[in-house]
Amino acid sequence: MSKIILTGDRPTGRLHVGHYVGSLKRRVELQNSGEYDKTFIMIADAQALTDNIENPEKIRQNIIEVALDYLSCGLDPAKSTLFIQSQISELCELTFYYMDLVTVARLQRNPTVKAEIQMRNFEASIPVGFFTYPISQAADITAFKATTVPVGEDQLPMIEQTREIVRKFNAVYSEVLVEPEALIPENEVCMRLPGTDGKAKMSKSLGNCIYLADTADDVKKKIMSMYTDPEHLQVSDPGHIEGNTVFTYLDAFCLEEHFERYLPEYANLDELKAHYKRGGLGDVKVKKFLNHVMQEELEPIRNRRKEFEKDIPEIYNILKKGSDTARETAAQTLSEVKEAMRINYFDDAELIKDQAAKYGE
Ligand code: TRP
Repeated sequence: MSKIILTGDRPTGRLHVGHYVGSLKRRVELQNSGEYDKTFIMIADAQALTDNIENPEKIRQNIIEVALDYLSCGLDPAKSTLFIQSQISELCELTFYYMDLVTVARLQRNPTVKAEIQMRNFEASIPVGFFTYPISQAADITAFKATTVPVGEDQLPMIEQTREIVRKFNAVYSEVLVEPEALIPENEVCMRLPGTDGKAKMSKSLGNCIYLADTADDVKKKIMSMYTDPEHLQVSDPGHIEGNTVFTYLDAFCLEEHFERYLPEYANLDELKAHYKRGGLGDVKVKKFLNHVMQEELEPIRNRRKEFEKDIPEIYNILKKGSDTARETAAQTLSEVKEAMRINYFDDAELIKDQAAKYGE
């Protein structure tokens, strides 16, 4: 069986380093590993509209931002199909049929939907489209017969729901759909990188994100004002690692080789942490080190972005070509789905013959 990747992001803003360590970096590695027959990367604008109906223009504006972030991280249109969800109308058709396979109660139990409803104060007024987006996400994944879905941990309930829909469809009709597996980050801290203020979630409204498109100066400023250990007042005080954002970011970004380059007094992160805990190591020194480490990772991304920004019409062109390719694949799956459901009446010579026979003699 072929190995196929599908994943995507809602275009609600520029992508930040949380997206990067949580998923983007891995996607690029997978794309380049040569182990997958196809890679599909989707800008989920239709899904983004399910909870942004007051501000559809935001979604429209951010498509290009996400595309630029993708390309600058190394997603390569020669290797991956980059496309826009709303351009694949087959996904809506699949969603409509999958809706028959899912109960309201099952959707209400989906932990991600539950949490999001609370977060957005939707309780009394959930848009139907938002409530049912796990079904549409199942369509996104199955339309491409994806075997592997690299996502953050928060998306696991979506993949589980997709797997149930696949099993149900294949049992009711026939084995057409493929059960996907989620691929979540191996490094625990990469699953949920906190904001620079130490808050659990990075979000634009909190102003605690480091964006992939931030200038070197902005990145440095954000790092130098990062939340650390509020009890670590004097350099000589013993410090805490737990909940200390600077160390969390080091866990996510730092390699042993960074010490040779930027902080040769220490062999590795464990030694640095041990010194911090003992006391005698100041925040500024650790932050400067983190700045070196992060700039090294972000600089090539930033530079590639500058290049891609020079030809924006070409980026739309890439997305259009990708959407055309994606559409062919989705149309093929939809046609198999309709055949399995036996709603392909006009191609069903047997049906026509039988009905004719019923009325014939
Ligand atoms: N729900 C994902 C997010 O919020 C975006 C998404 C839409 C997605 N369809 C998908 C992810 C299919 C993986 C597979 O980021």
